[in-house]
Amino acid sequence: MGKVRIDLRVNGSAKTVDTYPMARLLDVLREQIGLTGTKEGCGEGECGACSVLVNGELVNSCLVPVLQVAGCEILTVEGLAENGQLHPMQQAFAETGGAQCGICTPGMILAACVLLKRFPCPTDRQIRDGLAGNLCRCTGYQKIFDAVREAGRAMAGT
Ligand code: FES
Ligand code: FES
Repeated sequence: MGKVRIDLRVNGSAKTVDTYPMARLLDVLREQIGLTGTKEGCGEGECGACSVLVNGELVNSCLVPVLQVAGCEILTVEGLAENGQLHPMQQAFAETGGAQCGICTPGMILAACVLLKRFPCPTDRQIRDGLAGNLCRCTGYQKIFDAVREAGRAMAGT
């Protein structure tokens, strides 16, 4: 099958791409829309580096054919900052050292935002479970968990 025209909504803006229907959402975001914050790790649905939100659900964009998300609301890490201000989760990752090489970080931050929506003040167990689909080779996870707790406190205003 040849290329088709697909309408997407990415970080609140309408985007139209001409692409193959089975193109990976990951590649369309990075190569056609220019949002390179979303990273590729394994390319097989195992590491979470490519995580984005589709209609509020965390998905591995390396596994999603772009046609499947036509018309859906897609949020990438670039969509988190507002008015030039980092999102509290981004800020917390930067301050606690939760980001090192940065490959896992965008996906980890989005997964952590989903986690805090469910559990605004998460236990260690809830953080571990909530981030279980996102792998990090650098940090040993402790600083990531610290960042999530810190962002939870900042977002709760405590
Ligand atoms: S690159 Fe998609 S899950 Fe690893
Ligand atoms: S910071 Fe390098 S993989 Fe997590």
